Amino acid sequence: MTTITIALSKGKLLPGTEALFRRCSLPFPIGDSRRLVVPARNFRFLFVKDADVPTYVEYGVADCGIAGRDVLLEIGSDVLEPVDLGFGRCRLVVAAPAGSGFTPDKVSIARVATKYPRVTTSYFLGRGLAVEVVKLAGSVEIAPGLGLADCIVDVVETGRTLLDNGLEVIDTVAESSARFIVNRASFHARRQEVQELLHTLSGGPS
Ligand code: PRP
Repeated sequence: MTTITIALSKGKLLPGTEALFRRCSLPFPIGDSRRLVVPARNFRFLFVKDADVPTYVEYGVADCGIAGRDVLLEIGSDVLEPVDLGFGRCRLVVAAPAGSGFTPDKVSIARVATKYPRVTTSYFLGRGLAVEVVKLAGSVEIAPGLGLADCIVDVVETGRTLLDNGLEVIDTVAESSARFIVNRASFHARRQEVQELLHTLSGGPS
């Protein structure tokens, strides 16, 4: 059997991904190494940033990968997305200072801080609202309180970060969870291996 290369996120999806592989009795690298390309039986794992997983898969460096739907919406890569793996559930939301009554249509051009500029622009465009998007790399929740933005678009999982930073959800932009993604060429050229992995991970017959 030939080697299948799988791109995985080093971030929040990693514990759920490892649990899934172990549950399915698939090989998974031991977690105490800093190596980012790790062979394990008939797999080769690439550990990369969340936002880079779709890129490795689209360009065929990896045959497949696991990425959040939030990231897939933002990156917009041309990959196949055959399975919702059901873990890593979260929501992309618009949030504003709690109790402020702020909504983006109340100002002429709202300033929105986010790690998701593409999703944010398209969400507001779809509602006919012009906004100024401020791209941040993280800790987006502090932006409204410090005067950098009127509101944010960010991921909410437990809601704790919003609460602790005085924000509340004013709308849901998209639901997200971990998705198994496949390179288009690999899906055909390596059909059998990819289908077996797909069925194993999704709990179906192999
Ligand atoms: C994510 C997200 C929120 C937080 C939401 O941040 O951007 O800040 O998790 O989780 P919660 O609803 O359970 O509190 P992450 O940990 O990825 O850090 P960063 O965005 O600040 O880099």
